[in-house]
Amino acid sequence: MEEQGRRGNVITVFSTASAVGKTLVAVNMAAELARLGYRACLVDADLQFGDVCNYLHLVPERTLADAQKAAEADADTFDVSQFLDVYTCDNISFSVMAAPLRLDEAYNMAVLSVQHILQQLQFHFDFVVVDTTSAFSEMNLMIMDMSTIITFLGIVDFIPTIKNMKIGCDTIHSLGYESSKIRLVLNRSKSKTKIDLEDVERILGEPFYHVLSNDFKAAWDATAAGVPLVRSADTALAKDLRSLVARFTNNEVEDDSGAEGGVSSWFKRIFK
Ligand SMILES: Nc1ncnc2c1ncn2[C@@H]1O[C@H](COP(=O)(O)OP(=O)(O)OP(=O)(O)O)[C@@H](O)[C@H]1O
Ligand SMILES: [Mg+2]
Repeated sequence: MEEQGRRGNVITVFSTASAVGKTLVAVNMAAELARLGYRACLVDADLQFGDVCNYLHLVPERTLADAQKAAEADADTFDVSQFLDVYTCDNISFSVMAAPLRLDEAYNMAVLSVQHILQQLQFHFDFVVVDTTSAFSEMNLMIMDMSTIITFLGIVDFIPTIKNMKIGCDTIHSLGYESSKIRLVLNRSKSKTKIDLEDVERILGEPFYHVLSNDFKAAWDATAAGVPLVRSADTALAKDLRSLVARFTNNEVEDDSGAEGGVSSWFKRIFK
């Protein structure tokens, strides 16, 4: 059932190439938001090949496909919170809406159903973090439309990756969003490449908003253990991930005189 009140922010992690770190970043964003005390939900919208539960060593009891079925069966009694799993580790706890388990279920997911589910989640959480696929699909465009922030993730490795990043950047900007909605983030910076970062920024027509270190060991260890990197700040990559989230949230302290509006109002101020 739809609750009254303010809606949480949607932060989408998107890229125009596979394996650039979308899931790693999405998992750590949700974890860091939770660590900071926000009510956070991570949605795995990589419907066919979602990895969120693998990253967190979660065995989901319910998925987006189950949520869609329930919403279609009876929209009036649909309660999105019944379809969430919870990830907990130390002082970090956040909800997870898992991707469908089977390909046929993924294939049958409808854009309007996912939109409805995300809208419902916004009533329950301060932040809904959405992990996506690398495609300009109808599903992803709907998710981008709903987003407060699109974290557009890229790596600088091969010429085709940069070409696709350029196409993606231009396309997202052509959708008519406020430019502040789109945050270009470089992952795996300083990894071995002969491509000059300034050249890439020139091609893209804008600088990277934030840069994440390349740290294969930290990424591997966290995934192997099923824990978010941001649990501790003992690696450069964890610090970079924490500071990315801090840049999305750090005005809250300055804004707490106004109180009432909470997350929504300070967010509007930052991203106007
Ligand atoms: N900053 C980083 N340093 C080192 N390795 C990283 C970093 N970010 C991600 N990785 C590694 O890169 C690989 C791909 O990451 P991830 O699964 O998050 O990519 P993705 O964009 O979600 O991929 P897909 O398009 O398949 O969903 C993983 O092995 C991950 O551990
Ligand atoms: Mg992924």
